[in-house]
Amino acid sequence: MQYFVTTDALASLETDCLAVAIYDGGELSPSAAQLDEDSQGAVQRVIDSGDMTGKPRQTLFIHHPSGIKATRLLLVGFGKKGKTTENDFNAATTTMAQVLNDSGAQSVVCTFTEVELSNRSAAWKVRQTACNTESALYKYTQTKSDNKPLEKPLQQLSFAADDADTAAFGQALAQGSAIGKGMNLAKELGNLPGNICTPTYLAEQAVKLGQQFDSVKTTVLEEADMEELGMGSFLSVSRGSRQPAKLITMEYNGAGDARPVVLVGKGLTFDAGGISLKPSQGMDEMKYDMCGSASVLGTIQTIAELGLPINVVGVVPSSENLPDGDANKPGDVVTSMAGKTIEILNTDAEGRLILCDALTYSERFNPDIVIDIATLTGAIIVALGSVTTGVMANDQTLADDLIKAGNDSYDRTWQLPIWDDYQQQLDSNFADIANVGGKEAGSVTAACFLSRFTEKFTWAHLDIAGTAWNSGKAKGATGRPVPLLVQYLLNRIEANS
Ligand code: BES
Ligand code: MN
Ligand code: ZN
Repeated sequence: MQYFVTTDALASLETDCLAVAIYDGGELSPSAAQLDEDSQGAVQRVIDSGDMTGKPRQTLFIHHPSGIKATRLLLVGFGKKGKTTENDFNAATTTMAQVLNDSGAQSVVCTFTEVELSNRSAAWKVRQTACNTESALYKYTQTKSDNKPLEKPLQQLSFAADDADTAAFGQALAQGSAIGKGMNLAKELGNLPGNICTPTYLAEQAVKLGQQFDSVKTTVLEEADMEELGMGSFLSVSRGSRQPAKLITMEYNGAGDARPVVLVGKGLTFDAGGISLKPSQGMDEMKYDMCGSASVLGTIQTIAELGLPINVVGVVPSSENLPDGDANKPGDVVTSMAGKTIEILNTDAEGRLILCDALTYSERFNPDIVIDIATLTGAIIVALGSVTTGVMANDQTLADDLIKAGNDSYDRTWQLPIWDDYQQQLDSNFADIANVGGKEAGSVTAACFLSRFTEKFTWAHLDIAGTAWNSGKAKGATGRPVPLLVQYLLNRIEANS
């Protein structure tokens, strides 16, 4: 996709399509009213026919309108005038992209900055439209035979602007498309089956990012290297798998020797639970247990494409969790890189076992901030559903910054407490700490476990088990929380400048 800003009069634009907003009850937006005038009432006639009522997800083409150079007008519903929500806006722009991609129109000029959305700038609407468009056009095909490319896909999206807005809108389009592409990378990695997307495959994709961008340096540690580092907890998980574990590091350098933000992504390319085997119903979805790591790759790709002035290190511990004669057994005690011993009471609580060593490993980057991203607990889905990511942190400012970044990007997050009161649930009679904390507050005790390995830095944990993919008929990865992570980094750059 290509993105442009145009300041020309709408009626004079030679484009395949002009997209304008219509509100509930058939009310016209200013651009729709202008084009109605230019086309001697073509818009109002369609509204009067009752075919377009302005509800979000409703669209209608008007072909060859007279008095207008564009080949088509697309009326796009945005809900109640003055009451359009972010959900309405996202639904409308996503639908627009899909409808255009399925039509013969290959270019579109959008006018949606005039849609009233409380507390959202024009640039936000531009950025969101670009991101939603990029994301809407993603389609999984890698393991499908029927993967013919469309003959006339959507190729060009422009925004109508005043002269004063062109620079800001240009930047918004660049950011939105880069975020959308980062989400699509995360989706593709998530959707790939476990027999293709192995730890080795993930490492190869990270190496590719390093080759693609001079600003990214990728290194991959093998099991022997991890042995030397004393990562007994991480390695205990991969022992039950024939796929070798990998510890992948992607160092993005955009700010000289500034202390980096370290993003640690859980990379379980398949989680069967191990000896504490999961029920078979829905187990296929445990190929998504590497979505945290996928979001780290997606974020690194986005910031590298944008060339953001910040240093970020992506750390991805990647492994499978399978039952095997050599796999972890309930009651086993392992020693982490930090030296703490862990009693493995449930082999299905493996995410924290690989993350704790990766978190300890992060110390060597002298991080300013460490954020881990993990499909860590089913309990977070019970608590928050699939709407919002759970955030837990050992620093309230960092939690607040992530909550704000979530609201800014509309990839939202909600905080849970990790007070000392919960820590005792992890007491063990046979080791320094147990890897599970009983049935109460499962997401909190998982974070409490991680907190024992993050005492040396400012840290937050994002539990994305509910938000990283959709189940059911629309099964597929969402690309979240790439928008949240990129926004956090953008906000940080802005605050430091
Ligand atoms: N990857 C799962 C968490 C998960 C479960 C994500 C379902 C999405 C849907 C994680 O490794 C796990 O199995 N967690 C256990 C922890 C429990 C044994 C304390 C869980 O949530 O059941
Ligand atoms: Mn598990
Ligand atoms: Zn898992």
